[in-house]
Order: sequence, then C-alpha cells, then structure tokens
Amino acid sequence: MKYVISQKSSSLNGTIKVPGDKSISHRALIISSMCIGTSKIDGLLESEDVFSTMSALKSLGVKIRSNDNSYFVEGVGICGYKSPNNFIDLGNSGTGIRLLLGAIMGSNVIVNFKGDDSLSKRPMERVLTPLRLMGANLISSNEGKLPVSIQGPKEVLPINYSSKISSAQIKSAVLLSGLCASGKTIFTEPNKSRNHTEKMLSQFGANISSKILDNGSNVIELEGRPHLVGKEITVPCDPSSASFPIVAAIITPNSKIELHNVMINHARNGLFETLQEMGAKLKIFNEKKVNNEFTASIYAEYSKLKGLSVPSERAPRMIDEYPILSMAAACAEGRTTMNGISELRVKESDRIKIVSNGLNRVGIKTIEKPDSLKIFGGEIIGGCTIDSELDHRIAMSFLILGLVSNKPIKVLRPSTIKTSFPNFFEMMLNLGSKFVKG
Ligand code: S3P
Repeated sequence: MKYVISQKSSSLNGTIKVPGDKSISHRALIISSMCIGTSKIDGLLESEDVFSTMSALKSLGVKIRSNDNSYFVEGVGICGYKSPNNFIDLGNSGTGIRLLLGAIMGSNVIVNFKGDDSLSKRPMERVLTPLRLMGANLISSNEGKLPVSIQGPKEVLPINYSSKISSAQIKSAVLLSGLCASGKTIFTEPNKSRNHTEKMLSQFGANISSKILDNGSNVIELEGRPHLVGKEITVPCDPSSASFPIVAAIITPNSKIELHNVMINHARNGLFETLQEMGAKLKIFNEKKVNNEFTASIYAEYSKLKGLSVPSERAPRMIDEYPILSMAAACAEGRTTMNGISELRVKESDRIKIVSNGLNRVGIKTIEKPDSLKIFGGEIIGGCTIDSELDHRIAMSFLILGLVSNKPIKVLRPSTIKTSFPNFFEMMLNLGSKFVKG
C-alpha cells in the first residue's frame, strides 16, 4: 500500500472495540519476562511495535508462545536475560527500545540496539544518562541516538533521579533497571506521566509507591530485588487508538458511535476531557476494573466544537493525542492553543511541524512556536497530499480530516499505521469512512 485517499463521508455509525493498549502490551511482555513462572496475556495488541518487543525478548532468551489469542511468557527472573547473537531491531518502537534499555541492566549482557529511520532520529540520551548513573557501560552510541551498544553492570546502583521531562519511557527505564538494584530507586518527574509500569510492577509483587508533591511533581519509590511472580493479565483497549474513531465521529455530521472496554486511566484521558470542554457530545459510562486499570464504554456523536486553550500541565495526560486533537481544532469555531508541547518534536516525527504544515496545505491557518501550536478553525479545503513521515498518528489524523474535507486528502506511506492500530482501515470502513487504498 503506497497511499490512501480519504474522501468526504456522509456519517459514521456503529459499535466498535479498538485493539489492546500499546503501552500496557509492551509492559505486559517485558514485566512478565522478568518474573518467576509463566504469565498469560489476553488482549495483547498484535501490532508491529509490540511484535518488535516480543522478538527482542525472544533474542534475549525468553520463551513466548501463543494459543487461542492468549500469549504465554516464561519469565527468566529480573536478572536472567542472555546476550543476543545479533543486533536487536526495535523497528519504529520508542517504548520498546527505551523500556528494554532499562530492563536488560541487571543481566550483565551486551546488547546492540537499532531501529528504523524514524526511531534512529529520536533521542536516547534521556534514558542513557540515568542508566549510566546506575552503572551501565555505554559501549557506543551515535551521539545519543541509535544504534546503541550497551552492557549492564555487575551490580546495578540504586539512584535518586530527578528528570526534567515528564516521560513515562524515561521513568519506566529507570524503574525496570531499579528492579535489580540493591536498595531503593527514587524517580521524580515534573508532572505525572502514564503510570502503567508502577501499577503493573505492584500487581506482580514489587514494593512500589508514588506521591504527588505540592508543586505537582510525581515521586516514585521502588525497593530493588523484588520477587516478581507470573500472573494473568488482560490488556484493556487503547484510549489513544480510540481517539481516532471518536474524533472522526465528532467532526463528521450525522455520526454516532459507541466503543467498549476503553482504558480510562487518569494519566491518559486528557483528550476526552479537552473534547468535552470544546463542546463535544462525549459520554463515558459503565466503568469497570480490569487488573489494576479501569475501563469504560464511550459514546460520541457529531458536535459543533469551540476552540480553547489547552493547559501545559495536561500535556503528559494526552501527549499522543495532539495530532488528532489538531484535526478537531481545525473543524472547531475559533482558535485552539496547545501549550507546553515541545515533546511532540521528538515523537515518531516532529509532530508540531508536520501537523502545522499539513493543516496549512488543507487550508487552515496555524502559528507554530517551539513549544506551542495555535490552530484557527475554518473550512477544510483539502485536495493535497500529506506524507506520514513514518508516523502512524500523523497518517491516521490526516485520513480522518479527509472525511470532512471539500476535496480528498491523499496520505503517503500509510502502512506505518500497523505499528499501533492494525485493523484501523477495516474498522473505519465498517463505520462508513470513504477510504480508497492505492
Ligand atoms: C509511552 C509514553 C509516551 C508516549 C508513547 C508511549 C509509554 O512517551 O508518547 O507513545 O508507553 O511509556 P513519553 O515517554 O513522552 O511519556
């Protein structure tokens, strides 16, 4: 598939269940590989990114098999990985590489990591810096980028580390490394980022706690060398994937959709809150607890939206949702300002630049600053081509905007969507979107 053309659609209707959460799927595989005993994972996201992590674990000596949609991971313990024979290629997956850099620390193995063109441009120094403090021997890196050659130390040192960035990937790398340290690892981040690692480690038997300080920063403390025991895990549906059909329904006239089992962790639901503030008819109901997370059903229908200012403190709670929020903002009345979003520049692409340029091409005015983006809602003219830049969320966002655009929008290199949402096309076509593959 070289491109997909998205055309004006009359309405989107139906009930759907989006695939498993990407963040939880990576963690379920990695944390269960560090247990004693076998874990059973249901609802795992079967996407390219998660398969990259799975094959990396297999190269590190972990046995993983599947049967009837369940995956079984035989844990090797917190320090039990074997040195792989070849490079470990994480493809497009930032979560996979950064979490594994931390997870291998206790095993004293030498690992050479690489990734695709997009991942090779992304910063790894943010993870390598604390790992060096924990004793990692960084054999080589390409100025803090991939490929990276690293060896875990004979003994992992517990650290008290304050990160300037609120990033769940940095936090998780330090915590996974801290599992093997003889003592307490303490990690502080300016605002709370997604806490799935903390929740899952606690579920598997680690002694881990967190607290929010008066200045809003989040402090996590983990006791090293816990006895992690294999468990059964059910992966809830991914709220980041859900945000694409949800926004599609909200901006396409006459649409009504319902989704089930969507994870509603507070550190992930900033987009739903923002859409409601913009005037979206979006209801969250039927809440349930699944393992240590909560899920809910979501109902969304076509709504007239109003622009607003999204506060910077909310950014970690919706960091992956700015591209699709930008499409909603383009369809809203008035101006939307997104503040404190400089982290978007180091995602799978420079999302501020690509979104801003792409919106200009479809006829929408924007103002781009180093860490903010203003979007002036208006008529979507379309009739242009957007390259995904190997960024799944850019591809899906502009395809959704095409559903309400006067002239079609063509998206190049759409196969990148398989990294996170393998049945995106099938699901969107069933809801009524007009996508033509080429
Ligand atoms: C993720 C954390 C986020 C997010 C990414 C997944 C994770 O990055 O952008 O898609 O699973 O830990 P941060 O490291 O910026 O939090």
